[in-house]
Amino acid sequence: MNITYKIIKDLPNEQLYKLFVAVGWADEESTTQTMIDKFNKPFLNSTIVISAWDDGVLVGCVRVLSDLMFRSVIYDLAVLPEYQGNGIGKELVRRCREQVSNSEWLVGTTTERASFYENIGFKLCDDVFFNVPCKWC
Ligand SMILES: CC(C)(COP(=O)(O)OP(=O)(O)OC[C@H]1O[C@@H](n2cnc3c(N)ncnc32)[C@H](O)[C@@H]1OP(=O)(O)O)[C@@H](O)C(=O)NCCC(=O)NCCS
Repeated sequence: MNITYKIIKDLPNEQLYKLFVAVGWADEESTTQTMIDKFNKPFLNSTIVISAWDDGVLVGCVRVLSDLMFRSVIYDLAVLPEYQGNGIGKELVRRCREQVSNSEWLVGTTTERASFYENIGFKLCDDVFFNVPCKWC
């Protein structure tokens, strides 16, 4: 497997959408073409975006909101199911952390995925996050 990594924010909407469908984050029934056409907007507006490619196929992505000093937060780490288990997720996070190596790194996740982050060096912290739900998800 010859995976290449890119630092570009303008990821192709259709491929990004397919990746989100593949990991269960987007629903083909309810996603309109208008939404697909804006799919990369959160990526365009993020501080760091790293993607993984197999030739022309987008096989993984991650985005980060960071103040580039104290705090960096990981969002939307995803790897196509058929490419999972090959170190791509770990490498995407490593490349992000390399960009702001001294910052605190945070990620919100589910109990199912907690062990993935523990496995790559994250520790459960005492902070409690509150939210107002997003209208779009
Ligand atoms: C979570 C995800 C990004 C992991 O990507 P991946 O490329 O399969 O992970 P890697 O191959 O880089 O795995 C790195 C390490 O974590 C371990 N790991 C992978 N998935 C794991 C999981 N779900 N639970 C626990 N450990 C996991 C691997 O065994 C590997 O360990 P090793 O370094 O000791 O060999 C991928 O499963 C995915 O896209 N899932 C769906 C979307 C999702 O839930 N994203 C996370 C949102 S917070």
